[in-house]
Amino acid sequence: MGKLFFGTQTGTTEGVADLIKKHLPNLVSESKCIQFAKKEELEACDFLVLGGSTWGDGELTDDWLDFFPQMDLIDFSGKKVALFSLGDQVGYSYNFVSAMRLLYDKVIERGGQVVGNRISKEGFEFDHSESIVDGHFVGLVTDEVNEPELTDERVRVWAQQVLAATGNSAVAV
Ligand SMILES: Cc1cc2nc3c(=O)[nH]c(=O)nc-3n(C[C@H](O)[C@H](O)[C@H](O)COP(=O)(O)O)c2cc1C
Repeated sequence: MGKLFFGTQTGTTEGVADLIKKHLPNLVSESKCIQFAKKEELEACDFLVLGGSTWGDGELTDDWLDFFPQMDLIDFSGKKVALFSLGDQVGYSYNFVSAMRLLYDKVIERGGQVVGNRISKEGFEFDHSESIVDGHFVGLVTDEVNEPELTDERVRVWAQQVLAATGNSAVAV
């Protein structure tokens, strides 16, 4: 079992985090804002979901920025980590969901393995995102501003990748 930790500026991410938890019932026991997390809680998990909204100009939210220095104290080796970001492909087309890349780079730097990291760009329209590696998003991407009706299917597709990479089978949601 693992846990999900999210950052949010105005609360929207909490709903997406709950949906993710629903799609990964055997992997995620708890969804919690990173503002209230202790590094020991992350250390105790061999599976983690980390994410939140992209803010500023391709930046992490304030709660993640406060926690981020502690990421350097966590040994992620042996941990599987799935990532996600909310963004706005119309308003922030030049930096769409770019904050997810900051989490991706840090998890890898600290020895972790990112799973659910081959997510298609198809269906999104934007100019640039830092969160693309080898032509794919490195995690789940949702746009609650412009396409909230597509979120459930996007979570489902990503969750399938995560479940396959962790040796779990899909569940009906
Ligand atoms: C001031 C501001 C800055 C934002 N910056 C970005 C950005 O750089 N890239 C992006 O994709 N979305 C950006 N967004 C869109 C948010 O990620 C989006 O509104 C998200 O749903 C907010 O989730 P939250 O309420 O959990 O913080 C920004 C929104 C605001 C209001």
